[in-house]
Amino acid sequence: MSEFLAKYSTKKVPIIIENNIVEKSWSILDHSKRYLVITDSNLLKTYDELIYQIPNLITTIALKPGELAKSIEVYQKIITALTKLGVKRNDVIVAFGGGVIGDLVGFVACTYLRGIDFIQIPTTLIAQIDASIGGKCGIDFINKNDIGTFYHPSQVIIDPVLLKSLPKNEFLHGLSELIKYGFIKDASIINDVQRFTLPFKPDVLLSLIERAVKIKIQLTQKDEFDLSIRRLLNFGHTYAHIIERKSKYKISHGEAVAIGMYYELEGTEYQQVLLDLIQKYQLTNQLEKWNISYAADLKTDKKATSTKITMVELEAIGKAKLVDRSIL
Ligand SMILES: NC(=O)c1ccc[n+]([C@@H]2O[C@H](COP(=O)([O-])OP(=O)(O)OC[C@H]3O[C@@H](n4cnc5c(N)ncnc54)[C@H](O)[C@@H]3O)[C@@H](O)[C@H]2O)c1
Repeated sequence: MSEFLAKYSTKKVPIIIENNIVEKSWSILDHSKRYLVITDSNLLKTYDELIYQIPNLITTIALKPGELAKSIEVYQKIITALTKLGVKRNDVIVAFGGGVIGDLVGFVACTYLRGIDFIQIPTTLIAQIDASIGGKCGIDFINKNDIGTFYHPSQVIIDPVLLKSLPKNEFLHGLSELIKYGFIKDASIINDVQRFTLPFKPDVLLSLIERAVKIKIQLTQKDEFDLSIRRLLNFGHTYAHIIERKSKYKISHGEAVAIGMYYELEGTEYQQVLLDLIQKYQLTNQLEKWNISYAADLKTDKKATSTKITMVELEAIGKAKLVDRSIL
């Protein structure tokens, strides 16, 4: 078992990672509290027995799966339900799900009664290594994630065994992000994904998740509000966002990140390393068709100023730096 304590300006967040921890973890919940679970219907179908064992369960809200749950309408419905149920400031919401549930529930918890505790139990690879840590939460409005804030859970419980039921394509979306961590901060992740094949053995998967989580904690502790070094996590994402937009969001985020990293590594010796991994895990078969204009497309990025954009460049595998590039 790994236990980390992520220290942020507003909260210290215990993060536990262990195979089968979820079954045991209800015993580590504070049994004097009341809990309300927000999940999606796919997860409730698979994990209903487990969820209903949570102590002092007020109720379980199961949403329709998918990005559309991160909407004002669903947010409003949840706040209405919490009010009608009489959920109090000392009650706790459990976000049991992928990044969609985590982002939405974090925003609900932050804003309901000016903030109540919530626990993240991430169930996708993306949520376990990325979305559940660092406090970014929010909903989509005109664009993706354009209403949101930073609000940390009071605890994160990561159980890689929950990923057994995750569809393979969803696992592969997370694998692109895992490879991203390897390129920017930890060459041993790249070595392992080169060495092993799917399905990863439980100890291999656990160890990969632990290393990724450690990186996410380090970067978000140093730069809680995404103003400097945390931006290393954007590797592959500047192009990924353009590709997602050009595909009218038909391409998944994970696949777009794989393609984005490929473009951002153009002209470097590391592009071939990535290409080998893309082919090994079949992360995408759409590498070539994107006609990206450096100046025109990058200007639209949220992080770009009128003259420059900060990009991530590799000095070696496992070592990345931020560089300002002109977009004039
Ligand atoms: N806050 C952050 O820092 C951060 C970081 C990355 C991504 N995100 C957000 O995360 C969202 C994407 O999250 P995601 O990729 O986890 O997708 P998701 O939450 O939509 O889950 C994907 C699908 O997998 C199903 N699922 C989840 N866990 C399962 C399991 N264990 N077994 C079976 N099915 C399961 C869900 O029902 C859903 O259909 C996006 O909205 C993105 O903006 C946030």
